[in-house]
Amino acid sequence: MSDAVVSFVSGPVLRARGDAPFAMNEAVLIGAGARLGEVIQIRHPEIVVQVYEDTTGLRPGMEVRRTSGPLAIRVGPGLLGRIFDGLLRPLTNVGEYVRPGVAPVSSELFPFEPLARGGDVLREGAPFGAVREANGRRLRCFAPPGVEGRIAHIVGPGLVSGHETVCTLTDAAGDERPLAVGHDWPVRRPRPVRRRLPFDRPLVTGQRILDTLFPVARGGRAALPGGFGTGKTILQQTLAKWSHADVVVYVGCGERGNEMAEVLEELPAAEDPRTGRPLLERTVIIANTSNMPVAAREASIYTGITVAEYFRDQGLDVALMADSTSRWAEALREISGRLGELPAEAGYPAYLSSRLADFYERAGRVRTMADEDASVTVIGAVSPPGGDFSEPVTKHTERYTRCLWRLDARRAHARQYPAIDPLSSYSSDAARLASWWEAGGSPRWSEQRRRLLALLEEHTHIERMSRIIGTDALPARQQLVLCSASLAIEGFLCQSALSKTDAYCSPARQASMLGLILRWVELGEEALSRGVPVATMAGMPIRRRLVRMGEDIGEGRPGAFDELRVELGHAFAALGGAAP
Ligand SMILES: Nc1ncnc2c1ncn2[C@@H]1O[C@H](COP(=O)(O)OP(=O)(O)O)[C@@H](O)[C@H]1O
Ligand SMILES: [Mg+2]
Repeated sequence: MSDAVVSFVSGPVLRARGDAPFAMNEAVLIGAGARLGEVIQIRHPEIVVQVYEDTTGLRPGMEVRRTSGPLAIRVGPGLLGRIFDGLLRPLTNVGEYVRPGVAPVSSELFPFEPLARGGDVLREGAPFGAVREANGRRLRCFAPPGVEGRIAHIVGPGLVSGHETVCTLTDAAGDERPLAVGHDWPVRRPRPVRRRLPFDRPLVTGQRILDTLFPVARGGRAALPGGFGTGKTILQQTLAKWSHADVVVYVGCGERGNEMAEVLEELPAAEDPRTGRPLLERTVIIANTSNMPVAAREASIYTGITVAEYFRDQGLDVALMADSTSRWAEALREISGRLGELPAEAGYPAYLSSRLADFYERAGRVRTMADEDASVTVIGAVSPPGGDFSEPVTKHTERYTRCLWRLDARRAHARQYPAIDPLSSYSSDAARLASWWEAGGSPRWSEQRRRLLALLEEHTHIERMSRIIGTDALPARQQLVLCSASLAIEGFLCQSALSKTDAYCSPARQASMLGLILRWVELGEEALSRGVPVATMAGMPIRRRLVRMGEDIGEGRPGAFDELRVELGHAFAALGGAAP
């Protein structure tokens, strides 16, 4: 029985005619192979469908069947440590996905433990049981948002699959609602929360330039724009590895398949510095690489954020990285073009901006339906063509994010990684996060952060001037600023993602390192007033040791920084000069 018949196919989009009562965003199945699509326009009796799979071989005359539900994914146990396509179907290998019905995740069995009894009233979002995954993590099973009632039946402890009914509710209308350990959720609809909470805790990333200069709050939103090869992917992967998140959802959107394969290869080996557990265990990867269907790429960021919200609803702090939202926007543009919509800026549809807003608005720190505090932090990479930050995707993304981490081609070229430009980047969360740092062992965080930013600003100003008149013509005080700022850049802001000791830097180590750099700056100013030449200070062996301290002094050695501080004092004292 067909509900409509295909009349026209254009790339990932098709038109069909039929009298069935299709709904907007309804999922449909096309042809004998039941290829998945979604209704994106209704002009009775015609519907327009975007197809989430390869459309080769689809022809006019093929049937389109309704599913009577919106495009949805099944969230539940079995997601962590795995890789999926843009519609959350398991991938065995990047680039070739397993078709629906073949090896579904839910064929796996999980030990179930009931947390409620027959007769109990279950509120929406409240747990009725828990399952343990193979990695040992305990996940609660709850009635999906919007479902509540009295428990008519619940199974005892034992092994269950992701799909079987383990609990039956009788809702207010007297209808039976069967519940499984996982549930379906429409990807385009945000999961509800009790309320939103303020942005007053950082998502520690272990990256000095971010945590100290441009910190992102838990539940915050950051944009990472950068031209080709400036380090977006490396930084996103670094964040996936080291951020203090309980769960990381990594959406590889339209990038090359080998980059995704690399993440997968590296993660199992890497250990979470806080828990000692393999990082892969807390990670869900959603890959819609450049060779995969373009419509599924459009869906992949919604799939990603829905998975993130599911883990948030478990009471966890979740970080979502999307690389790259520009490729997602290009998918939107291609589909819009096929629909013959009137293009706005740079060929993108007029709704690009509102779609970006919808996505970023799903980030947040919240009180969940189960009355716990949890968060989803979103970090979206943007790849502006030709590195032009005024193009529409970058521009609109910057409107909806609270942190802007702009990658600078000049810095990347000079291998100053991460190549974030400290002058054009910002964090709207910094002011609110100061008290977290100041209560947590870095009492001078705000002041030190301000001093570092001021030094970098002065440096840029003087550098510009020195390009005209030459460094030698600068007054000694300005030469010292250049010398101090280059120490701050090399010794503090630069941090190699590939280093064993330095890829991750704890808040305490960041504070120690910044304290030493700023101490060098103070001692340098004193020495200058005693008449010590800047060239002498620039050549001090202790300066080279500060440049290398990130590499040389790993985590858990605060004493080594204290020693360095004492030596620093001696080294400047030994320079002599007239008493001020
Ligand atoms: N933080 C970093 N540490 C070390 N090398 C880096 C870092 N960031 C970028 N690189 C270098 O720059 C190259 C390009 O980075 P990549 O993240 O692929 O750029 P993009 O995704 O912006 O095109 C990498 O292959 C690596 O050699
Ligand atoms: Mg990249």
